[in-house]
Amino acid sequence: MELNSYLEQQKALIDKSLDNILNQTDTVPSPIHEAMRYSVFAGGKRLRPILFIAACDAVGGNSEEILPVACALELIHTYSLIHDDLPAMDDDNLRRGKPTNHIVFGEAVAILAGDGLLTYAFEIMFKLGLKTKKPEKLFQAGLEIARGAGTQGMIGGQVIDILSENQKIDEKTLLYIHNHKTGSLITGAIKAGAILGEGSKKQIECLTRYGDNIGLAFQITDDLLDVQGDESKIGKPVGSDDKNQKATFPNIYGIESSKKMAREAIQNAEESLEMFGEEADPLRLLARYLLIRES
Ligand code: IPE
Ligand code: IPE
Ligand code: MG
Ligand code: MG
Ligand code: MG
Repeated sequence: MELNSYLEQQKALIDKSLDNILNQTDTVPSPIHEAMRYSVFAGGKRLRPILFIAACDAVGGNSEEILPVACALELIHTYSLIHDDLPAMDDDNLRRGKPTNHIVFGEAVAILAGDGLLTYAFEIMFKLGLKTKKPEKLFQAGLEIARGAGTQGMIGGQVIDILSENQKIDEKTLLYIHNHKTGSLITGAIKAGAILGEGSKKQIECLTRYGDNIGLAFQITDDLLDVQGDESKIGKPVGSDDKNQKATFPNIYGIESSKKMAREAIQNAEESLEMFGEEADPLRLLARYLLIRES
């Protein structure tokens, strides 16, 4: 399997579903729908929905039926980016290669667009719940996603990230921030995919370990790109973390050790897939991609 064509194919599938599922910009009240669509279609790798689908496929599930859940994950992620960029948070003006939501629509509408995306994510999952033959699997998957996004997941990580600005923090706190602000939703997406694919307890455990490790590697790489990346490729400002005196891996461990830790996490992730055959090849490919990504 070739990485680029796999990513392109999955991204096209998700983009099409997102376009079908989101309200059109002329839906009343149109300013909010315009702002929501603006950030969702500004670009984005669609990594969380791709991982969700790949996890479902790895346990032999049918990912076609559950595309609305893949969309819900991207909506939650996009909401988190809009809020992350706000002046009260990281105060950034570029995202996915475009001016951030609050720069274009103003802070109030940007906050509401985030709220709108988060709420709509649960609306589309509940809607699917009324149609599906296995509502209890959807409940379980929805619970994992809610936990991943919530105060003991992504929001929890964002809170400690913000409160740690300008602070001297220990390694344990740094790990907490990264595992929560970024890892939790990634692991939540993977667990949700495995649950909906009707994976066994053992399979779900291994995929959870895979998710925790790639989640950590993903945020370490994000920190590295903030220092060494190319703005035209990452589509967001380089140096945002230094501007905000953030707790990051390069700041605490230096560039080379951070790279090594990301490599180790990816190796652990690959080892977590040992019980799987070629049906988990996309997950293997994605793990390796996270080490070489430039955006
Ligand atoms: C950026 O996520 C925010 C983090 C959690 C590090 P992505 O790098 O997946 O951003 P998009 O979706 O591709 O824009
Ligand atoms: C934020 O981490 C993760 C989110 C939950 C959005 P960052 O603040 O490092 O993400 P970027 O670099 O702005 O994408
Ligand atoms: Mg941030
Ligand atoms: Mg940020
Ligand atoms: Mg960052």
